Amino acid sequence: MGKIILTGDRPTGRLHLGHYVGSLRRRVQLQNEGDYDRMFVFMADVQALTDNADNPEKIRQNIVEVALDYLSAGLDPKKCTLYIQSQIPELAELTTYLMNIVSVSRVQRNPTVKTEVKMRGFGENSVPLGFFCYPVSQAADIACFKATTVPAGEDQAPMIELTRELVNRFNQIYAPVLVEPSLMLPENAVARRLPGTDGKEKMSKSLGNCIYLSDDAKTVEKKVKGMYTDPTHLNVSDPGHVEGNAVFTYLDAFATDQDFADFWPDFKNLDELKAAYTAGGIGDMKCKKLLMKVINRMLDPIRERRAQFEQDIPEVFNILKKGSEQAREVAAQTMDEVRKAMRIDYFNDAALIQEQAEKFKKQ
Ligand code: TRP
Repeated sequence: MGKIILTGDRPTGRLHLGHYVGSLRRRVQLQNEGDYDRMFVFMADVQALTDNADNPEKIRQNIVEVALDYLSAGLDPKKCTLYIQSQIPELAELTTYLMNIVSVSRVQRNPTVKTEVKMRGFGENSVPLGFFCYPVSQAADIACFKATTVPAGEDQAPMIELTRELVNRFNQIYAPVLVEPSLMLPENAVARRLPGTDGKEKMSKSLGNCIYLSDDAKTVEKKVKGMYTDPTHLNVSDPGHVEGNAVFTYLDAFATDQDFADFWPDFKNLDELKAAYTAGGIGDMKCKKLLMKVINRMLDPIRERRAQFEQDIPEVFNILKKGSEQAREVAAQTMDEVRKAMRIDYFNDAALIQEQAEKFKKQ
């Protein structure tokens, strides 16, 4: 059994730098390293609809935005299959069968879903059933492709754990058809959680503290200028703190030694700048100016590709259509095996028909 990488996002908004360091950059690396048999990246619109039933237009719009983000960040449809979840009806079918082998209380015991229910302000009695069940649907997303490796954040750990349980139970009850996946976490702390420009714990659309992959250079400059730094660093000569200072956290995530050589040659690398800032004498604005250049340099090639794809939206849809067709072939193959294992492949089972014919025939 080879290595199959699969991951996805809910298309509920444009992707930001938090998505980029946390997952997108890694996906592009994984894709280009080529150490896999197959790689799938998909837009989980069915999952997004579980708490946006009244706003399908939002999901529809963000399918295009996220596709543009994927393609411009460097995901390459020749190397990885890009598709839309709703276009793979086999996933709904597998979800139905997996629901039979898990209890309501097991699904209820999911810390990520609990947090989301609170955040959405669903009262105890107004959680949509589809939303409640989405972890099972996510297990189907993964199992239907026999994914071995799911690159995702810590918040997805409960989903992977449930998937493993369901895969095991399915294989035990029916036949060993499905594959247990494992979670591949981001490699370091910055990648795990990039703070917002306001220094708050997380970059998040609802907090309005995001820098988007699709932001232009001027917007990035404005957002970086307004960033949270070190509230105790009042005068340039004061010693500064880099811990909890969002500008330095971003530099940690993005600045390269080449950036220092080109933009601030007084320092060889970030460690040297941090030492000087900590000692005192380095102004926040200078650090922000560096950060603007670093981010804009990193985003420039992404913006260029985005601008090209934006001029050919029909091609973007074409890529997703082809990807969805390719993904569907794989899912359909798994479902043939699933139905066979579950003994519901009635019409493909010549022996069954023969046996039943004999059983009921009048002698
Ligand atoms: N739950 C993921 C998110 O909120 C999206 C998702 C759906 C997913 N199905 C998946 C991620 C399967 C990895 C594998 O972003």
